[in-house]
Amino acid sequence: MSAQHLVETRELATNFYTFEGVVRALNNVSLVVDQGETYGIVGESGCGKSVTVRSMMRIVQAPGRIDGGKIVMFLNAEDKAKGIEILGRTEAYMASIRGKDISMIFQEPGAALNPVLSVHQQIAESYEFHRMDEMLEKSIATLEAHAKELGGGPAGWWNGLRKSLLRRELGAHKNYSARIQTIDNELYKLEDSTDAASLGRKRELNHERDKPVRRDFLVEFARRVPFFARYRRPLNRTVEAQVIDLLRSLGIPNPENIAQRYPHELSGGMQQRIVIAIALACHPTLLIADEPTSNLDVTIQAQIVDLIRDLKKTAISSVVFITHDLGLVAEMCDRVTVMYAGDVAETATVKELFRNPLHPYAQGLLDAVPKEIQEGELTIIPGAVPNLIRPPSGCRFHPRCSHKMAICEKEKPPTLELGPGHFVACHLYTKDQSK
Ligand SMILES: Nc1ncnc2c1ncn2[C@@H]1O[C@H](COP(=O)(O)OP(=O)(O)OP(=O)(O)O)[C@@H](O)[C@H]1O
Ligand code: SF4
Ligand SMILES: [Mg+2]
Repeated sequence: MSAQHLVETRELATNFYTFEGVVRALNNVSLVVDQGETYGIVGESGCGKSVTVRSMMRIVQAPGRIDGGKIVMFLNAEDKAKGIEILGRTEAYMASIRGKDISMIFQEPGAALNPVLSVHQQIAESYEFHRMDEMLEKSIATLEAHAKELGGGPAGWWNGLRKSLLRRELGAHKNYSARIQTIDNELYKLEDSTDAASLGRKRELNHERDKPVRRDFLVEFARRVPFFARYRRPLNRTVEAQVIDLLRSLGIPNPENIAQRYPHELSGGMQQRIVIAIALACHPTLLIADEPTSNLDVTIQAQIVDLIRDLKKTAISSVVFITHDLGLVAEMCDRVTVMYAGDVAETATVKELFRNPLHPYAQGLLDAVPKEIQEGELTIIPGAVPNLIRPPSGCRFHPRCSHKMAICEKEKPPTLELGPGHFVACHLYTKDQSK
């Protein structure tokens, strides 16, 4: 039985509209990440690795835009059959899955952290946004545990009031979650319908889904009056305990102290651990690591890689791992895709790719890696990744390819499966090379 897909991109086209011209960064990229695997993406700088994963999360920033294709996610039991096409969903839908179901560790930890918020505040945001019901339930349970020892005096009364306000907040959140679930179920059923009535209904549902949680009027009042607003302190303590537990579970020494620090007070390695903590706060199904160790020294690199590998065993289902380091790919990944200038050149299991690379670019990349016993000089791929404003016609690799044929300049090679799960896009393997 084939593996269950988790994310699929189909013919994804992402462009950047710059003053110099349109950068055709992704040229119909199709790839599939399966449940439970570590999936590597490799390629030289500027090949479109980051743009691919940013498109998957729909966080391509202006002047970039996803202009074509589909991104289908199979995150929940209900959508295992045909998945959810996320390009058709609203930004509010994306915000509800980003961080919760799919998280990303960025190339630059310094840029990914907010300089004016403490570590605690940045991680707590995630708990409050995605796991509020659970945090409220835990806080209510703590207050209930204290109720008996406080008795019926003023302390008992205050404890009772806090409990009742937190219960009201929980009720509003549960109603909101149930409403969102009903809307999502209906949107899922309507996903493939294109008649006017269904399109109208989808618009209505998307508009309804974008509305925030409706707060209870007593909760609203209590939150505005400083004396009563203190009712949320048990909730803050619950979140604080979760943040500290998370930092401790990631091997961060003295987590109580680190939680109070600001990003500029931390080393690069510690900043990257905090970025990982933020990414993991809500137990995502898919973790995307975009060169998570590129700016760290080798010992910290090894620690971060071990951490991701351990988390893959215990906390997350699938990892997309982007790196320039083919040694790391061999160590970490199950399958790997080689990208070149916005195209997918080759996809195979790591073992197969290293044993039998078929695409001339993949062969070139592997030949450029020093061997255990290096005989003679390393082979390099001549030339450089082209400017994607005017990408080469046909196969984008043709100006650098020593196997180039006449057809290579004219036609983009189709992707063929040349062995089980071994996909290659190169005219060397197409039947008709005579054109
Ligand atoms: N904000 C932007 N504006 C214009 N072009 C962009 C922008 N971001 C990316 N690109 C272009 O998109 C292409 C793919 O870039 P991407 O960042 O995905 O490369 P990469 O494979 O991740 O490289 P690296 O290994 O250096 O991180 C490049 O040609 C790049 O110039
Ligand atoms: S399609 Fe042609 S130019 Fe492209 S990699 Fe294959 S042989 Fe080389
Ligand atoms: Mg990148």
